[in-house]
Amino acid sequence: MCALPNAFKDRIAIYTTRVNVGLDAALPLATTRPRRLHDAMRYAVLNGGKRVRPLLVYATGECLAVEPDLLDTPAVAIELIHAFSLVHDDLPAMDDDDLRRGKPTVHKQYDEATAILAADALQPLAFSVLANLPEAPAGAAMQLVRLITDACGSTGMTGGQSIDLDAEGRDLSASELEHMYSLKTGALIHACIVSACLLRKELSSEDANALDQFGRNVGLAFQIKDDILDVEGETEVIGKPAGSDASRNKATYPALFGLDASRSRCDELVDNALENLSRFGVAAQPLEWLARYIIERGR
Ligand code: IPE
Ligand code: IPE
Ligand code: MG
Ligand code: MG
Ligand code: MG
Repeated sequence: MCALPNAFKDRIAIYTTRVNVGLDAALPLATTRPRRLHDAMRYAVLNGGKRVRPLLVYATGECLAVEPDLLDTPAVAIELIHAFSLVHDDLPAMDDDDLRRGKPTVHKQYDEATAILAADALQPLAFSVLANLPEAPAGAAMQLVRLITDACGSTGMTGGQSIDLDAEGRDLSASELEHMYSLKTGALIHACIVSACLLRKELSSEDANALDQFGRNVGLAFQIKDDILDVEGETEVIGKPAGSDASRNKATYPALFGLDASRSRCDELVDNALENLSRFGVAAQPLEWLARYIIERGR
């Protein structure tokens, strides 16, 4: 595996710009009819966002020496799926939130029907991006489609969102809660790492398994940290309404087990994730940086 100097932090701006250019190019122009729908799709996607999922794709690519030109495709597709999930997540029928990335949510800025339709259109757009994967290992495009459909379907993100809504006001065990997190958030984050693995020719099963486990550990940690930020964060900093989970009686790690246990679980998951990377040596430094960032971030 190739060894890279640990300057991933300095490359974040480059990768963020790179994925933003790809997203902009994939989205229909706001001047294309129906204009309101296309405007709402662009608003949902190009309104900020940390781009953690694309960064995980590029960082895994660095670890495995996969060309960024190949990684752009899953990075853009997964971010489109993520954006669609956020638009639906904020709807009155779901979390009923008015603020996202420091701006009105899509249904507030436009209207509910437009928000539903914009999200509906973002999902197939992601798969159309995948269908245009440039030259890649044989069969990789179809494997990516399977990976990402599973990650966002009824046994992935959408299933997790369904469990999340059913769990409002209920007392879940830690394993039930983590199962819900691994679906609603973990599945798509895990897919970021696996997508780069699928683009690496002749990856050993040991390396693939280690990265698979890494993806599961950081995916869970990401949602627990999100729940901690909902309790501890300030609306102006996190860009979404602080305290939203408590106001809806959501089943979350802090609500059910307390903040200390939530922080300890995050630390444990990231320790495990770092352990998963040990076999890759210095090439895994970008992923190590992102794993730490996921639980240390302030938004
Ligand atoms: C928020 O994801 C939704 C969750 C799955 C917890 P992010 O924290 O990655 O949101 P953006 O994309 O940066 O706005
Ligand atoms: C969202 O979880 C998971 C998704 C699949 C969108 P949250 O409901 O906690 O995400 P935020 O806090 O609204 O971003
Ligand atoms: Mg939610
Ligand atoms: Mg929400
Ligand atoms: Mg949240």
